This record gives sequence, C-alpha cells and structure tokens, in this order.
Amino acid sequence: MEDKKLIFSAIQPTGTFTLGNYIGAVRNWIPLQDEYNCIYCIADMHAITVRQEPAKLRQNTLAAYALLMACGIDPKKSILFIQSHVNTHALLNWVLCCNTQFGELSRMTQFKDKSQKHPDDVNAGLFTYPSLMAADILAYNADFVPVGVDQKQHLELARNIAQRFNQRYGDFFTLPEPYIMEVGAKIMSLQDPTKKMSKSDENPNSCILILDDKDTIIRKFKRAVTDSEAEIVYREGKDGINNLMSIYSAVTGKDYPEIEKEFAGKGYGDFKLAVGEAVADNLAPIRTEFDKLISDKAYLKQCYTEGAQQAYRYSSRIVSKVYHKAGFVDIK
Ligand code: AMP
Ligand code: TRP
Repeated sequence: MEDKKLIFSAIQPTGTFTLGNYIGAVRNWIPLQDEYNCIYCIADMHAITVRQEPAKLRQNTLAAYALLMACGIDPKKSILFIQSHVNTHALLNWVLCCNTQFGELSRMTQFKDKSQKHPDDVNAGLFTYPSLMAADILAYNADFVPVGVDQKQHLELARNIAQRFNQRYGDFFTLPEPYIMEVGAKIMSLQDPTKKMSKSDENPNSCILILDDKDTIIRKFKRAVTDSEAEIVYREGKDGINNLMSIYSAVTGKDYPEIEKEFAGKGYGDFKLAVGEAVADNLAPIRTEFDKLISDKAYLKQCYTEGAQQAYRYSSRIVSKVYHKAGFVDIK
C-alpha cells in the first residue's frame, strides 16, 4: 500500500441502510479513498452480540457488502472485507481482552442500553464488544477511524487499551484517532423531526431506506410532518421544514438561501415533491448498481475473497508481533 495515513471503519450488517446512514456516514467514506489507505469491513461478528437468525445474517452481510460497493466503496482502491473471514481480529481480541478491565467495559453506555433492551441475553460477547472493536482497529494500526458520536466512547476505550499494551509490552500500537466528518448532516425522522431517522423506528413512513423505489420515496416525503405555516425558510421551531431543507441541501448541494429563493411563494406540497424527486434521483444509481451486484454472486465472492486475503496479509503481520510481545512461542 502507498505511504498514506490509514483509515479503518466498519458497519454492522443489521438491515438496510437509511438515508441517514448514507448522508451521515457511508457517503463521507467515499472521498477518503483518494486521500488515505482505507480499510472498510462488514462487522458480522459484532452483529451476533444480539440474537440473529443465521440465514438472515448471511443475507444481510452480503447485502451490506454489495451496498457499500454500490455507494462507491471501490475494492480496487480500498480493502473491503467481511470481518468473520479474517481470523486475526478474533486472535488479537483475546490478547486485548486480557488487557481490558471489567470496570472499563461496565461503563460503556452501549452495553448498558443493549443489556436493558435484551435482558434475557446479556452475553459475554455483548460485554466484551469494545475489545473486539479495538482489535478491528489495532490489527491494522489504523491512524483514523470515522465513526458517529455514538461510537466515540468505544474508540476512546480502544485508545486506552492500546496505551496500556504499549506501557506493558513496549511501544507498538498507533493510538487511533476519531475522524470527524465535515458537518455531516444529522437526518431526522420524517414523522417526528425531533428524533433521529432510524431503521429501528416502528413507523415505516419515518424513514427512507437507500433501496426504496422512487414511488415509495415520494410517498414518504408527501406524508412528512411539517408545520401549520406555509413558508419554506430555515428557522428555529420549523423542525420538519428544516429537516427537509437539510436533506434537499445534502442531495443537491444547494445552500439554504438558494433553496428559500427557489421555493419562495410555493407551497409545502411542491417542496415535498421536489425533495422526494431529488432524493430518488440521487439514490437511483445506487439501487441500479446494487441490483446488478447482488445478482452477480460470483463477482461479489471474488471481491470479498480478495478483500479478506488482503486484510489477512496486512493484519497477520501485526498480530504475529503482538503474540510475540505477549510472550507466546513463535511458530516459525
Ligand atoms: P447505526 O445505523 O446507528 O449503527 O449508524 C451507522 C452510522 O450511520 C453511524 O456513523 C451513525 O452516526 C450514522 N447515522 C445513523 N443514523 C443517522 C442519521 N439519522 N443522520 C446522520 N447519520 C446517521
Ligand atoms: N461498533 C460500530 C457500530 O456499531 C461498528 C464497528 C465495529 C466499528 N468495529 C468497528 C466502527 C471498528 C469503527 C471501527 O457502528
């Protein structure tokens, strides 16, 4: 790989991505490919910390892989692979687990949230999840990790684990830093614009999925909750309109004054239709590309096999050194 800083990120294969995941996360990973060495991974091993139906997990993992490619992650520029294909993550995880404190893991808010949500299955994997996440990152000695705010606590812990290892065994790991996106818009629910757009929302109208067809997208925008005024301006208190404006701005590149001018004197109906059409046009090529990829299983397999081989080659060198430092007998 070229001598550039290394980016690592991963996403769990739990259902289809939303417009929020796309605008807030995945879309920002694309241009990084030209500036950095990028390694992106579908975190299927993290997904089983909550119960998954095996056939569905397999399907979701392949779909997530194809979807990242359809969004523009190019396996020729970046290493794109499936976590469970590269055993170095689990191997490193063990050593890191032995350098992670019970107290540290107990303080993780995601663990507290998820164990409350699934009280009948508070498993050890859910508890040690951040150690596996640290292994994902440290197996490549990544410099930067693009993550949303919800993952910052885990990244902080990964740094602490790396630091502790370096103190005990001698300087080795790079301390990974969060990569903060340039104001990646936070997309709100179309039905309750004070809440984040989320795929776990019960109301399907609240959320645009990146694989929704044009009619569905337009229908969901038509039903979007707004306010009782009739003015398309970005102003405090107009959460629904603000959200639609921020979405329209993200997909067209127009700024708020331009949008206000474009829709001066027009009604909410016209605006909602325009937003729906702009989003549908923006997502259409992704859907076409996804359909092509998901029906070409041989090509997908070739990509994820090569991705796994590259990831293994890279990380196994690092993990062998860690095993040596930890005091394990070398095998060759
Ligand atoms: P999640 O689906 O919550 O695991 O999030 C995966 C990534 O998408 C994270 O980096 C989040 O910060 C980002 N993300 C999720 N929902 C939204 C949203 N409504 N607006 C912006 N970014 C989001
Ligand atoms: N925990 C992350 C999430 O739920 C996904 C993830 C797994 C990850 N391993 C990672 C993110 C390593 C960044 C780096 O969104």
